[in-house]
Amino acid sequence: MQRFAEKVVLVTGASSGLGAACVQLFAAQGARVLAVGRDTGRLEAVAREAGSTTPHVADLADPDACRGAVAAAVETHGRLDVLVNNAGRHDFRITTDVTRDQWSHDLAVNLDSVFYMSQAAIPHLLETGGNIVNVASVAGVMGESYSAAYSAAKHGVVGMTKALAVEYVRTSLRVNCVCPGGMDTPQASTIEVPDGADWDLILRVASLRGLMSADKVAQVVAFVASEDASAVNGSILTVDQGHTAG
Ligand SMILES: NC(=O)c1ccc[n+]([C@@H]2O[C@H](COP(=O)([O-])OP(=O)(O)OC[C@H]3O[C@@H](n4cnc5c(N)ncnc54)[C@H](O)[C@@H]3O)[C@@H](O)[C@H]2O)c1
Repeated sequence: MQRFAEKVVLVTGASSGLGAACVQLFAAQGARVLAVGRDTGRLEAVAREAGSTTPHVADLADPDACRGAVAAAVETHGRLDVLVNNAGRHDFRITTDVTRDQWSHDLAVNLDSVFYMSQAAIPHLLETGGNIVNVASVAGVMGESYSAAYSAAKHGVVGMTKALAVEYVRTSLRVNCVCPGGMDTPQASTIEVPDGADWDLILRVASLRGLMSADKVAQVVAFVASEDASAVNGSILTVDQGHTAG
């Protein structure tokens, strides 16, 4: 299925986990991909394996780096059709221990980067009839303990998705958000729980069905980004094995 033939896709957080799975899938379905992340070696490996993919190193906590990543996609491939705002970070922290720098950095990566990437990409997406897929989390639609900054940022991504969908509703632009539940990726496997944290509260966000493979979520991201979802706009799609259903 070559549903992204002739399309250019920018994926952030592309060196691992869901981002890497998205790069593989978009490239396999015909896209030329700009894979954006911080780790040169891992990005190059992902790009080699996927094919049709150019690595671009950027720390998206910096707004100029966000603008630079979008410019690189357009300079390299001449157009931009899909922006996947996937980069994110998550540490469990007891709220009263959170420093100002930790709060600011969590918001910069998980929320501000989504805004700056989108702001830079929108003029190009309007030219191509393109779309944005944001990756939030179940923590964007429910509270997650010891995760005030992460949960606030992901709720912000959900709100930003709806705001942009409404602002651009008279244009061809679509803006949607995928909210994964627990995935078997480095974010989940390297997580550390602070001393004194209540495990029962932490496990409240864990699905009874266990962790999903990132490939299953990448399939939904690609569907939303494709013409098959041309009527899907401003949607918040949970992909969480039923966890937030009740
Ligand atoms: N793993 C889960 O259980 C889970 C659940 C819900 C939502 N999510 C979200 O899914 C997305 C992908 O996460 P993942 O699970 O694949 O984990 P991951 O850690 O493998 O991927 C996150 C990527 O974002 C990149 N990143 C972090 N800070 C960055 C920065 N400043 N600049 C550029 N890139 C940066 C990381 O290098 C990494 O490649 C994230 O937005 C995450 O919050 C993950």
